[in-house]
Amino acid sequence: MQVFVYKNEAEVGKAAGMIVASEILKKPDCILGLATGSTPIPTYQEMIRMNKEGILDFSKVRSFNLDEYIGLSPEHVCSYRRFMNEQLFDHINIDKANTHVPCGIGADHEADAKAYDAAVEAAGGIDLQILGIGHDGHIGFNEPGDEFVSGTNIVTLTDMTIDANTRFFEKREDVPRQAITLGNRNIMAAKRIILLATGKGKARAIAQAIKGNITPKMPASLLQVHPNVQFLLDEDAASEL
Ligand code: GLP
Repeated sequence: MQVFVYKNEAEVGKAAGMIVASEILKKPDCILGLATGSTPIPTYQEMIRMNKEGILDFSKVRSFNLDEYIGLSPEHVCSYRRFMNEQLFDHINIDKANTHVPCGIGADHEADAKAYDAAVEAAGGIDLQILGIGHDGHIGFNEPGDEFVSGTNIVTLTDMTIDANTRFFEKREDVPRQAITLGNRNIMAAKRIILLATGKGKARAIAQAIKGNITPKMPASLLQVHPNVQFLLDEDAASEL
């Protein structure tokens, strides 16, 4: 695992944008694993800038997002599909048919989870996975627990995650209690992973993920055994290392 520390979130976004660009230049039809949350937004802005300036071509790129809330339709203002469209896909020349976000409103969530796993595998697996991190150390929506979960699965969100994500909703009661997320096996199978973290609120989780024991109680700690992972942090997120 490599750890890089930058002055602020804009610099983290620039560095992550460069890594995405190098992946696409190397493999124009690469599979990107994408994350939601506020942390990757500067990275997405860099990707948009490079596309508008003609440096980056997304026409052959395919993507799989990590997760979606159970119960929110793709059109819902707080859904992760809508977030991705608004923050990235609507502004670059990616074919939306090549972008995938788990389905949160199917009749059979378990079947949807299996189908999502199969689709990732059929595409050849994720080349570059972008991750954020929750305050409790979750990656995707894989919350702390007693076991590492394997493939795409349905999770119950912790109170800490519901609190953290309330800012996107009108009120706490509106935050869905469950989500569908790629599992640790899917994430660990990515050929390369970059984890982005900015702000003091992430400092403790980052310190535990990098220096603590590998334990499902700190899901991001599993990344310690991935052969190609870089943590891109701002000074605040790195302040407890
Ligand atoms: C959500 C997402 C995660 C994300 C986390 C942190 O829980 N499911 O993928 O990493 O939020 O979000 P933020 O970057 O806004 O702190």
